Amino acid sequence: MIMIRALAVLVLVALAPAGALAQDGRPVFTDAERQAISSHGPWPMPWTPDPSNRVSGDPDAEKLGFRLFFDARLSAGGVMSCATCHRPEQAFAEDLAVSQGRVALTRNAPGLMNVRFRRWFGRDGGTDSLWSSSIRTFLKPEEFASGPDLIGQLLADDKDLRDQFEAVFGSDPALQSGETAMVLAAKALAAFQETLVSERTLFDDFRDAIAEGNETKEAIYPADAARGAKLFFGRGQCHVCHFGPAFSNGEFADTGLPVLLPGGGVDKGRYDGIKLVRSSRFNLLGPFSDDPEHSTAGKTRYLDLKPRNWGEFSVPALRGVSRTAPYMHDGSLATLADVVRHYSELDLDRLHADGNRVLKPLRLAEDEIADLVAFLETL
Ligand code: HEC
Ligand code: HEC
Repeated sequence: MIMIRALAVLVLVALAPAGALAQDGRPVFTDAERQAISSHGPWPMPWTPDPSNRVSGDPDAEKLGFRLFFDARLSAGGVMSCATCHRPEQAFAEDLAVSQGRVALTRNAPGLMNVRFRRWFGRDGGTDSLWSSSIRTFLKPEEFASGPDLIGQLLADDKDLRDQFEAVFGSDPALQSGETAMVLAAKALAAFQETLVSERTLFDDFRDAIAEGNETKEAIYPADAARGAKLFFGRGQCHVCHFGPAFSNGEFADTGLPVLLPGGGVDKGRYDGIKLVRSSRFNLLGPFSDDPEHSTAGKTRYLDLKPRNWGEFSVPALRGVSRTAPYMHDGSLATLADVVRHYSELDLDRLHADGNRVLKPLRLAEDEIADLVAFLETL
């Protein structure tokens, strides 16, 4: 009897059309899907230092950066620190739809877990390194509104910080230009943020089981999440953009959200981000990169502004995504189910005409939406 049942399952599996389920409610993955799942690991990814940051991976710099991250004195008037918007207890994101700086901002603060694996930083990719991303915050009138004078002075005046700084960089901040001290502070902050790497998850065990061909281990993964994975790597084509171990291809895309801002005007996203990164004195082509060959700067050198970039936003990495609600650049979607529903009911008229179209309305059933959410929750 057992033999016959096993045979029946085998036959079912062999005859299963794409999307079919085996008897126990578990999906049957195609070879292409198995390969796609395997390419989302292994996790954690191997460590590689950032060549543009001389203190990348230096434990003392990480400690200094940790301290600076929580220090409100880096901002004019001492009113906010990085942790005001990137809260450690919320995976370094926050639960507000849009951040509150000196005024209400127009974008949602992304979580900083696994931020070191990004190619561009900011929802618009307005900076090309992790360290210049802090400088953007320092200089922004709506955020820190500080800059070289204030930060240089702080590092020179606070005895403790000054000693710690000197131990890391081998130079006294009081004897440097404010600009140099500011850039080095940003590099220490980056060294700290590089340590924010998320733990292995249920998904990683599932991915390893698939990569190893271990069916017993594969069966430990919950059936609803497995059906969600089938949608993510199959019909949904989600992995085309949410690609690789960190679940982002490092690029930008338009997902058909409204670009009109509540207070008037539009958020052009990547279109303005490209202009910003190209014109910044702190980009990887500039004098502050520690990478003598500018090996990391190619992406910036060959950056082209195309009409397609209008309204594109950075593809978020999805590890730990259940902890960073609300979602999207404007925080307009409150829950993961809302995000999945957005993809399910996508309004094609809102997407730009050019570019190849991966996204199409998926028209998912309620139980499929629940499966996809169950999958996302295992990341
Ligand atoms: C007032 C709230 C606020 C403060 C304070 C703030 N951030 Fe942010 N952060 C944001 C928002 C909003 C974004 C998205 C920026 C954009 O696209 O315009 C962001 C983006 C980032 C990014 C890019 C992440 C990614 O995935 O692309 C990094 C890194 C970052 N912040 C680090 C910091 C650090 C370090 C500090 C302190 C020096 C800081 N932030 C202070 C709100 C804030
Ligand atoms: C064409 C590329 C592309 C495809 C395909 C795609 N996404 Fe996204 N995804 C994005 C971009 C870009 C954003 C951010 C949009 C924004 O900030 O406005 C995003 C945001 C998200 C978010 C919110 C993350 C956060 O931190 O805010 C989730 C969850 C998500 N996508 C899941 C999915 C799922 C599930 C699918 C398949 C049904 C999918 N994506 C398909 C590009 C894509």
